[in-house]
Order: sequence, then C-alpha cells, then structure tokens
Amino acid sequence: MVIAFKNLFVTLILAIGICSASADEEKWQDPAWQDAIWAQRGCKADERGRWFRNAKFGAFIHFGVYSELGGFWHGRQYDPAEQIIGLGQRHEVIPLDEYRAEAAGNFNPTNFNAREWVSLIKAAGQKYVIVTTKHHDGFCMFHTATTGFNVVDATPFKRDVIRELAEECQRQGIVFCPYYSIGDWTAAKVEAPGFKTYGDYMRAQLKELLGNYGEIKMLWFDNYWYVNNQWQNDEAHAKELYAYVRSLSPNTLVNDRCGRGASSLDGDYATPENQLKGSLQKRCFEVVMTDTGDDNWGWVRGARNYRSPAELIRNLIDCTSKGGNFVLNVGPTASGEFPPEHKAILQVMGKWLATNGAAIYGTDPAPECETGPQPGLRCYATKTGNNIYLELVHWPDGGQPALITIHRHDFVSAGVLDSSLPAVHVQPTVTNDLTILSIPEPAKVDPYATVIRLTFNGAK
Ligand code: GLC
Repeated sequence: MVIAFKNLFVTLILAIGICSASADEEKWQDPAWQDAIWAQRGCKADERGRWFRNAKFGAFIHFGVYSELGGFWHGRQYDPAEQIIGLGQRHEVIPLDEYRAEAAGNFNPTNFNAREWVSLIKAAGQKYVIVTTKHHDGFCMFHTATTGFNVVDATPFKRDVIRELAEECQRQGIVFCPYYSIGDWTAAKVEAPGFKTYGDYMRAQLKELLGNYGEIKMLWFDNYWYVNNQWQNDEAHAKELYAYVRSLSPNTLVNDRCGRGASSLDGDYATPENQLKGSLQKRCFEVVMTDTGDDNWGWVRGARNYRSPAELIRNLIDCTSKGGNFVLNVGPTASGEFPPEHKAILQVMGKWLATNGAAIYGTDPAPECETGPQPGLRCYATKTGNNIYLELVHWPDGGQPALITIHRHDFVSAGVLDSSLPAVHVQPTVTNDLTILSIPEPAKVDPYATVIRLTFNGAK
C-alpha cells in the first residue's frame, strides 16, 4: 500500500513536471509573453547591461592550438577548423596524443601581439572582444592550475594569451569577455588532479577566469549540447551554473547557451549565429558571424572566401536597427596574426564608423520610420534623443526619390552625416501626425550606406 501510494505520488510529480514543461513550451509560442521575459533580462533592463546596449559592434576571436593546423591535418581539410580534433564529436579525427604533439606541441605564434590585435579592434570601432579561453578541444588558452593541458604548460609558446589580451583590452578601454565551452571533448583524458566531477573542474576554471583577469562584464558559454555525460543539459543545471557565475561576479552578463538556450528562463541575451533572421525577434541579442562565407570560426589556411565590407556594414546596420549588436569573428593565423583580408575589412568598417558612428552607438531602433515597398530602396533607421538616423544602403531604382514616412509631426531639418558628401534636399510634407520625406539621391553617395540625420523638436 505504501509502495503503491509512493508510486502514485511519483507519477503525479512527473505529470506535473511534464505539464509545466509543455505549458512553458506553449508560452514560448506567445510573442507577448516572450517579450515580457526578454524585457527583464540583464542586458535590457539592468545597469550591468548598459555597456552592452550601447556597444553595438563587437569582435569574436577563435584562437587555440587548432589554429596551428589551419583546418588541415595530414593534408586533409576538416571543417569547421576550430573543431578539427573531433568534428562535432561525431568521431575522433585526431587522437589526443597526436593533437598534443602536432597542434599544442608546435603552437608557437611568435607574431602574437595583444597590443596590435586590440589596436586593430579599437580602430575598427569594435567595443568588446569575446575570446576563446577554452574551446571544445578542452585546451585552455589561459594559465590554469586545473590541468597541464594549457598554453603555458603544454606549448613551446609558454605565454598566457588570455592574460595578455585581457590586460591590453583594459589598457585600451575595450570590454574583455571570455568564451568558455561547457562541452569539453578531452577533459576525461587530460590530467586534472583533484576533481571528482567535470562540474567541479569546470567551476574551478570559471572561478579562475572570473577572478584573475580583471573585471569580467560578460561571459560567453558555448557547446552545452555535447556534454557527453559530463554535464546535464537541463534547466536545473543551467540555473545552477548561472547562479554560480552570479555568486562570483554579480555584474557579469551571461549569454543564452545553457539549458534550453534561447527558450530558457535564464541567460541575459540571445546569440543567433551566422544569420540575420534572429534579429527579427524582439529580444536582446547579438548576431555572431564568421568573416568568411562558411561556418569556420578558427583560421583556415588559404581561405579566400572572406565576406565583403559592404555585406558586413549592412549587417551591422541591420542588427542595430533592430536593437541588437553585431559581432564579427576572426580566426588568427598559426603565427598569431589577423589574416590580411580581415584587417582590410576592419579598416573599411572603422573608416565608415568614424564618420557615421552617431547612427550606430548608443542608438535605439526607430519603428516610427517606415519606408514601404519602393523598388531598390534599402533603408534602415535608428534614433537617439531628438534625432532619427536614416541609413540608406541602396537608393530607389530609376533615380526615384526615397520616400520615408515618419509617425511624427515635429520635423525640423535633415543633413548628411558625412560632411564630405553633397547636401541632400529633403522635401517634407506634414499631415496630422505624419511626416513624409521625399529625398532625392544626391550626386554622390557613400558606397556602403549614406547616413541622413533627421532632427525633430523633441525626443521621443
Ligand atoms: C558554432 C561552432 C563553434 C563556434 C561557435 C561560435 O557553434 O560550432 O565551433 O565556437 O559557433 O558561435
């Protein structure tokens, strides 16, 4: 009888669990409920998220001992390059001993220069850096006491890459954010004295990262899906991990790659990858994107398929106009440099931002601006204070003026942000609460996006 009662109790608890899980799933289908949840996230509502809301443009760096291989092992290419040791854990490509000898054993990026990297990032207008401190291969790019499988103890380079970068970011005013892979494909095989569980090992590493590298404003988890009996990919474990991070560093933002990911109740912001679609959702987000037109985040020797600055500037504008950030990845080479193609991209983006940054940094989306369907016209809008910025990536076909409708009646003036470009002659028509602007294409426009600043009487 007691047993039967106990069984009934267990069944009831399970049923409640299942019901609430599916009720949660249902709730996630409701955009209003979703928006309310996302509005409470740290990077939207809290002071600790202010820098993130204003930053708009970040850098991602995938640098590890895999960079030594450049995506190739014994003459054969593997993709994505940063996962070459195990390729999504589908199979072991490189046995650990050989990875140790050929990747870590040869890793000696003598041209690595944190000052140069951070200077390039800063000049490009990127405000924060996310850098791989430990990728899925389990190799630590920081000097850790938890394992000898780290950059100081297991490579001829012997330098704490993460410390040098963290210190340089601090010096140059760039926000430094560690990337940390929860899934670790080698932890069970490397020397890790004194840890009973993988959880203990991971927490010890997180404690080092959050405690020994200056102020950490953001922590970027990844690969919670390949946990391989090390760690449970469920909400309870995600909650525990978030609570652990908070207990060590209350002001650190944490991304959504734990538990149920974007549809979890924890995590400060979402991280759609290599697609702008995510930016259509009303949530705090950061689109992360490779600099090549594929899914390689680590450096690929001989890669030629770099994205164009035109595409990347458009993507930055797209994300910003939807309230999110854009993060551009670089895979530094085996010798420790940004590939020349990436440097060229950064230079163009930095130049455009130096002139047009007012339309990007610290702005909000401006949904009161509508462009309607006009063949050829591609125009985005952002705002701060009493200004709305129009970012015209493409002008209407056939020399037609761009027609922009704004749900305001207090229009004052318009001007091109780049003073080296000719002025625009904007014709406003104001009716009730609407302003319709007719903007003829000037004789010369910016090759990436011409920014027009509209000034209104008051902020809105
Ligand atoms: C993907 C890749 C992973 C990379 C990450 C960055 O998940 O599989 O290797 O680190 O993107 O967002």
